[in-house]
Amino acid sequence: MTSDGGAPQTAFVWIWLPGAEEPVVAGRLDQRADQLIFGYGRSYQARSDAISIYEPELPLRPGVIEPPDGFEVANCILDAGPDSWGRRVIINKLLGPGQADAGALSELTYLLSSGSNRIGALDFQGSPTEYRPRGEETASLEDLARASDLIQAGEPVPEQLEAALAAGSSVGGARPKVLLRDDDRQMIAKFEALTDSYPIVRGEFLAMRMASLCGLRVAPVRLTSAGGGKDVLLVERFDRIRGTRRRRAMVSALTLLGIPEMAPREASYARLAQIIRERFRDPQETLRELFARITFNILSGNTDDHARNHAAFWDGDGLTLTPAYDICTYVRGGGEATQSMMIGLPEDPFRFSQIAGCIERAGLYGLSAVEAREIVDGQLTAIEEHWDAVCDEAGLPQQTRAMFRRMFPHRYALEGFTRSEVQSGGR
Ligand SMILES: Nc1ncnc2c1ncn2[C@@H]1O[C@H](COP(=O)(O)OP(=O)(O)OP(=O)(O)O)[C@@H](O)[C@H]1O
Ligand SMILES: [Mg+2]
Repeated sequence: MTSDGGAPQTAFVWIWLPGAEEPVVAGRLDQRADQLIFGYGRSYQARSDAISIYEPELPLRPGVIEPPDGFEVANCILDAGPDSWGRRVIINKLLGPGQADAGALSELTYLLSSGSNRIGALDFQGSPTEYRPRGEETASLEDLARASDLIQAGEPVPEQLEAALAAGSSVGGARPKVLLRDDDRQMIAKFEALTDSYPIVRGEFLAMRMASLCGLRVAPVRLTSAGGGKDVLLVERFDRIRGTRRRRAMVSALTLLGIPEMAPREASYARLAQIIRERFRDPQETLRELFARITFNILSGNTDDHARNHAAFWDGDGLTLTPAYDICTYVRGGGEATQSMMIGLPEDPFRFSQIAGCIERAGLYGLSAVEAREIVDGQLTAIEEHWDAVCDEAGLPQQTRAMFRRMFPHRYALEGFTRSEVQSGGR
C-alpha cells in the first residue's frame, strides 16, 4: 500500500523509434487497482514504423494489455524505471531525507519523477502531446559524489544538487550512481557506498577490465575519484549512439525470461540460452558469449549475476545481447558459493560457483565439453597474463591485490576442474 495520496493515475509512454532523434508517444499506462495496464495509442498504431515496446509482453495491437498474473506492471516498463538507489533519491526529494520505505510512493510516481535520460529507448510523461524532458540539471562529479553520501547518510541535500542527482534516478541497480556526459559520450558514474567494507568500486574495475581482456564484449570502464578521494567507476553507456540523440531499446534478462521482480532466483541461464536459440540474431556466437560470461563470473568472484545484470537490445523484431556490465569481484571467505542465476534448467537447478558443473552443462549452450574447456583455459591464461597490469591500472596496493587474487579465481571455483595441458593462448 502506498501513502502516495495524490498519486498520478496515468502516464504516457514515449519511445525513440530505431534511428529516430526525437521521441513519439506510443501509449499510456493507467493505474487500475494494484496494476498498471497499458494500451498503444491510435496514432502510434497507425505509423508504418511503429514497433512493439517488447514482445511478447506488450505486442503491438489494439486494446488494453494487462500484466500477467503475479505482475503489477510489465517487466519491460520496469526495466526503464528506477530500482532501489533511484527510488531512494526520489523518496529523499519528495518525502524528505532519511525516509526509507520504497513502498511509500506508487510505481507511476517513480516513473514520472525519475530523470528522462533513462536506460533504453522509453520515457514517461504526463502529456501525450508535449514532450518535456526531466533532469537536465547538471553538477560536478565532485558535488554529485558528496550529494550521494548525504543521501546515504539520510541528511538533507542542497536543492540544486538534489535535482542533479535526481537526473540519474531512473538508472536501475542498488549502488549509488549518477549520469555524466563528456563531449558526446554518456556514462554512468558508480560511487562507493558508505557501507562498503573493502574497495568494491576497484573490484568492479578489475573484473570489467579483465573480462574485456578475456575476450568478452564489455562496456568500457575508467576509474577516477571524487568526493574527497573516493573511487568512482565511469561506465560508458551502450544504449546511446555517440554524436546523436538516438536511443537503443533494451530489455533485461528478467524480462526475456518473463520472471516477476519478486522471484529473481527463478532465473536460469540455460532457459536464457533457449530464448537465444529461438529469438536472437546470431544465436551460435551469442551462446558462446553467454557461456563465457558465466564462467568468467565464476572465475572473477561475481556472484551477483542476477537477471537484471544481463540485457538484450530490442529493435521491434530481433534481439542481440548487449555488452556485459556490472561484473564485480565480491570478496568472500572459503567454501561453497552460488551464482544468482541457475546454470542448469529449472529441473536441474545447478547454480554452484564451480567451473566443472558449467562444463558438464556445456551442451545447453551449444558447446562441446572440449570447446567449453577451451574457453575456461583461455580465461585462466588471460587472467594470469594480465593480472599485474590490470592491478596496476586499478592502483591496488599489495594487500588489496592479494585479497582480490584469492577470489580470482576462488579455490572453490576450480574444484573438480583440471586445466588442459595445451593452452589456447589468452582468448
Ligand atoms: N554501460 C551501460 N550502458 C547502458 N545501460 C547500462 C550500462 N551499465 C548498466 N546499465 C543499466 O543500468 C542498470 C544499473 O547499472 P548496474 O547494474 O551497473 O548498477 P548496480 O547498482 O551495480 O546494480 P546491482 O543492483 O545489480 O548491484 C543496469 O541494470 C542496466 O539496466
Ligand atoms: Mg546491476
